[in-house]
Amino acid sequence: MMLYGAIFGCLSPILSVAAFLSYKSPFISPKDEKQNVEKAKAALLNENLDGSTSIIDNKQSDHLLMVIAYNKWSRILQEHGARSAHQFCRSFYLNSTVMYMIRLDS
Ligand SMILES: *[C@@H]1O[C@H](CO)[C@@H](O)[C@H](O)[C@H]1NC(C)=O
Repeated sequence: MMLYGAIFGCLSPILSVAAFLSYKSPFISPKDEKQNVEKAKAALLNENLDGSTSIIDNKQSDHLLMVIAYNKWSRILQEHGARSAHQFCRSFYLNSTVMYMIRLDS
């Protein structure tokens, strides 16, 4: 958790992740689309970390992804509205409902 704080330089994403972890993963994993889900996750991660992802193992990167996904989602929601935010969730296999729940919590 402290590591994420150092990476992102602020506390609120940490609280969001804590909320995710205590509540429910925002990721939707349809069985028949496992590969696409992995691709979407990798795309999210690489876009933000410029390929330096090899130092992050899978379990950690899921937590990191929650922060990245949440930050993106909330920015899109603010700047482009609910429709765009929902579209973002669809393309990255995120559960829109869970995103809104986390938002209310934090
Ligand atoms: C999204 O999360 C909500 C609340 O936990 C749950 O009821 C719903 O089934 C989830 N949707 C999907 C597609 O996983």
